[in-house]
Parts: sequence; structure tokens; C-alpha cells
Amino acid sequence: MKSEDIVIRISQLKKEKNVIILAHNYQIGEVQDVADYIGDSLGLSQKAAEVREEVIIFCGVHFMAETASILSPGKIVLLPEIRAGCPMADMITASELREWKKNYPGSKVVCYVNTTAEVKAESDVCCTSSNAVEVVESTDGDEILFIPDKNLGSYVARHTKKKIIPWDGYCYVHNNILPKDIMEKRSLYPEAEVWVHPECTPEVIDLADKALSTGQMVREAKETRKREIIIGTETGIIYRMKKENPNKNFYPARDASFCLNMKKINLNKVLRSLEEFIYKIEVPPEISQKARGAIEKMIKIKGGKR
Ligand code: 13P
Ligand code: SF4
Repeated sequence: MKSEDIVIRISQLKKEKNVIILAHNYQIGEVQDVADYIGDSLGLSQKAAEVREEVIIFCGVHFMAETASILSPGKIVLLPEIRAGCPMADMITASELREWKKNYPGSKVVCYVNTTAEVKAESDVCCTSSNAVEVVESTDGDEILFIPDKNLGSYVARHTKKKIIPWDGYCYVHNNILPKDIMEKRSLYPEAEVWVHPECTPEVIDLADKALSTGQMVREAKETRKREIIIGTETGIIYRMKKENPNKNFYPARDASFCLNMKKINLNKVLRSLEEFIYKIEVPPEISQKARGAIEKMIKIKGGKR
């Protein structure tokens, strides 16, 4: 089937079957174009919690679809490609967290949304890259176990007086952006501002003008008077930025910043997901209930505008 025909079929089936399509900012262009809502992890979880449709097709990675499922009990949540996981989310398991916590009695666990539902269920509160500092600040206690991203943990540590003890996880896409990439792009585009994601290393963040979540980047791209911006995150976001700001130029800080898992979903898989209602993401009720507590606590905290 030609892609125009697939797009028409998707839009027919969406209406017939009462489905909403949510997509992360890193999805490929053709998937972003059929989505009803595109956003960052915080925006997507808030959206998932409020949708009226009975079925959510979640174009992102596994932990995001799990979060949507936890926040939308009774709804069907589908991930078009079951192998789309997040390697960073798999860097800590619930049993590893349980063991680790024993070494720090009295401290609180703040988990990045990039974790499995089982890990969220073992945590006190969840955060995303838009609100990590606010979440840590509003958590009781002076010692915080921050999982799984050591880079986001170190970013938070620089913005709070609390003691942050990070787990040793990282995102390979952001960790691979190097100071030399930023310096090379700055010399190629001397007028440009540099925006990077807080999952980048502290050395890269130090060379940037701003550290922003993907949702904040999208918003800032519309608001800034700058016409050239170097973007230090997964390059899928540049499709959206160019589409929404045709008079501005966006350059990847590192050309090969691809999240292979985010790229596993395409138009054909979205259509198959709609036709066959695959792959259903379900979280066992006892885990879902505990994980929901950590996520809802985050949603109630002011900070990290969508
Ligand atoms: P955002 O919440 O900024 O969209 O980040 C999600 C993610 O997976 C970054 O790699
Ligand atoms: Fe996970 Fe990194 Fe991909 Fe985000 S970009 S989903 S953190 S691997």
C-alpha cells in the first residue's frame, strides 16, 4: 500500500475504533504526522491520563506505554512494536533497587520515568527530564537515591542542596554526544545557540547554552528569536522543530544521535497495530497500583510545564 493510502486508512480506523495516537518527539516523521498528540515523557503521561478514547496507540518505547497503561486503567494501550525498549530503563531491575535501598535506610528514591513499572513500584516518586529538579526539591529528606540516569542525577545535584546518590545508568544516545561534537558544531555555526538534553554528560551540558527536555526544546524553538540552534539530543526531534519553525535552522550536535528503539515504529506498524490491536501493554494490578502512586505524586508537583 502507498503511504498516502496507509495514512487515509489509519485515520478511518482511528475514528471507527475510538483510538488516539500519542507519539514521542523522537519518532520518525511519518509517525509524528499521523499522531494526535506529540510530546515529551511528561506531556505524554499527562495526556494519557486525560484522554477520552478507549484505545491508546503509543508510539514510543515500552516504559512510556507502560506509564500510559498505569495512568489509564480500563483502557487498551498498544505499542506498535513490542521490541521497542529503552536500554537505560533496563539498567536497573526491581530486585537490584531493593538491595541497593538497604544500604541507605531513611533515604528516598526518585526514579526517572525511564524505568520499568516494577522499578517505579519500588520508588517513592517519579520524575521526567522536565521536572527532575522540582521533584527532588519537593521530596522529604536530604538524601535522594536517583535512578537510573547518572547524568540526569548529576544535573539535578547541581541544582539542589540535597545529597544525590545516582545509580550508574545512562542513555547511550546522549552519553555519546561528546564535548568535541559541540565544539565542532559551534565553529561551523558560530551564531547558533546550543541546547542539550539533561541526559547528556556534565561536560557537554557545561558547553551548552541551555539544558532542556524535549518538550521544553520544542516550546523554546517557537519562542526564541535565534534563527540557528544546535540540538544535542536524539535527532528525530529536528523533524518537528523544522516543520513548526520553517524559518529557523536546527543542526544536530552529533549527526548519528539515533535511538534505534524509537526508530522501530513506522507507518505500517501503526496500521497493523490498529487493525490487529497489537501489542497490548498490561501491568499486573498490584504493580500498577504502587507505580501509579509514584507517577501521580509527580504529576501533582508543580514544575516542568508541558
Ligand atoms: P523527554 O522526557 O525529554 O522527552 O526524554 C525522554 C527520553 O527518553 C530522552 O531520551
Ligand atoms: Fe532510552 Fe535514550 Fe532511547 Fe530515550 S533516547 S528511549 S533514554 S535509549
